[in-house]
Amino acid sequence: MEKSNEVYCISDRLVIRKFDLQDVHAFYQYRVNPDVSRFQSWENYTLQEAEAFISKQILHAPDQPGTWFQYAIALNESDQLIGDCAIHTLADEPQIVEIGFTLSPEFQGKGYMNEALCALIDYVFGSLNKHKMIAFTDVRNTKSIQVLERLGMRREGHLLENYKSKGFWIDEFQYAMLRSEWLNRQHQ
Ligand SMILES: CC(C)(COP(=O)(O)OP(=O)(O)OC[C@H]1O[C@@H](n2cnc3c(N)ncnc32)[C@H](O)[C@@H]1OP(=O)(O)O)[C@@H](O)C(=O)NCCC(=O)NCCS
Repeated sequence: MEKSNEVYCISDRLVIRKFDLQDVHAFYQYRVNPDVSRFQSWENYTLQEAEAFISKQILHAPDQPGTWFQYAIALNESDQLIGDCAIHTLADEPQIVEIGFTLSPEFQGKGYMNEALCALIDYVFGSLNKHKMIAFTDVRNTKSIQVLERLGMRREGHLLENYKSKGFWIDEFQYAMLRSEWLNRQHQ
């Protein structure tokens, strides 16, 4: 099928591409789901917020220091949106990026996020030539922790009450992978 937009990575089952206005409904459907928003910064997401978010992403370019860029994750065969992943290029040190990710519940438990993030890591250390990739996760978010550890990311710290979410201070784990660690894994 012809891809609707700019493509950054392709894997066996997935394409990681720029968001498109056609993604708004599917994006809203998973963002409004309380199981998806439980450990995220948003709550009671609206269709208007989804439209505004995607419209902004369409005009945005990846890897601008001090900003997040959200990539759409779609099925290779149908181009259907199933989730998203993002990189935050740090303002003070643009050789370091933070990642974030979300998958629609109906597509969880099938290894799609692992597949998408393996492709994203290749892109981050290959095409973007970054030095280090980090991720923060709520310590209660076991599914997210499993995703990060399955990728081979190291837990670098347990940050006490590091983030205020929905009125509560949240403990976070920081995970990381260096470019040198990624290269070593390629050679193993
Ligand atoms: C975090 C999140 C993306 C994890 O989703 P997920 O579906 O568990 O992750 P994956 O797509 O990598 O799938 C892994 C699961 O698929 C299974 N699986 C099935 N087929 C597979 C395959 N071909 N390859 C790899 N794993 C496969 C794995 O065994 C694993 O199952 P398990 O958790 O029972 O062990 C999801 O829970 C989510 O979107 N949560 C809400 C948003 C969020 O909290 N994001 C994190 C912010 S830091």
